[in-house]
Amino acid sequence: MEIFKTKSALEAFLKPLKASGKKIALVPTMGALHNGHISLIELAKTYADIIVCSIFVNPTQFTDPKDLEKYPRPIEHDLAMLNEAGCSGVFMPDIAEMYPQGADENWHIDLGKAEFLLEGEFRKGHYQGVTQIVKKLFDAVEPDVAMFGQKDFQQVLMIKNMLAYFQLPIKIITCPIIREDDGLAMSSRNIHLSPVDRENSLVLSKSLQYVTDHFNEFSLDELEEKAKRFYHGIEGVELDYFTIANGDTLEKAKSKNENSLVALVAAKVGSTRLIDNMIIK
Ligand code: PAF
Repeated sequence: MEIFKTKSALEAFLKPLKASGKKIALVPTMGALHNGHISLIELAKTYADIIVCSIFVNPTQFTDPKDLEKYPRPIEHDLAMLNEAGCSGVFMPDIAEMYPQGADENWHIDLGKAEFLLEGEFRKGHYQGVTQIVKKLFDAVEPDVAMFGQKDFQQVLMIKNMLAYFQLPIKIITCPIIREDDGLAMSSRNIHLSPVDRENSLVLSKSLQYVTDHFNEFSLDELEEKAKRFYHGIEGVELDYFTIANGDTLEKAKSKNENSLVALVAAKVGSTRLIDNMIIK
């Protein structure tokens, strides 16, 4: 497995491979890898010959500087996992490589109304930062396909909107959420959960599962109301939102007949903010 710190070294590695017709997949990450990320690598292998994983903790997508500071960076562990998973190359640039003019480099594109809903309401500007770095990574790798986890459902939608905005010929693959045995969605942030938080965190997957299992029994409003009740009286858990939304617009669903429906949740568990979702249809 090769490691690259600069765009030019990465380009020199990829150029002959592309010339010989190899398909390239990009798996963008911020490190602190878990089996969810490895599932992206595994799936990438079914679409491409060469798998490039990027590890870059992107400052422009953090709305809280403390969150950026405490973001886990277990780099040796990450590289060992990627090597074992059969990743071809890892791109690990520093901040100056990605933001030569400084991390306050101006970027604003139209990502559609969904940018301002759900996560966009709680983390202002977050998706501008995400699409800014993903565009830079796409430019550096020029992959045929790029893999993203369904856990960040809104992120995938925003990246697809960014792709449409620039008309980039890259196929976006969304990989299913990988869960712990008890249902908690895998996340780099889970490392911050205390034993009590870890127990409390199960409320997210339980409330989503309830809505999925009882979808045919209640109205949308009743389902939302019943899901929100799961959060009542749990000390140390603060619900930001629970919604059943249209999967294309992320607007609150008006009818069960909409083409695509997804239940999405975000909650603070102790001091860790978690998100999760389940696609209903
Ligand atoms: O999902 C993530 O880890 C990040 O948002 C991404 C896509 C790597 C951009 O920094």
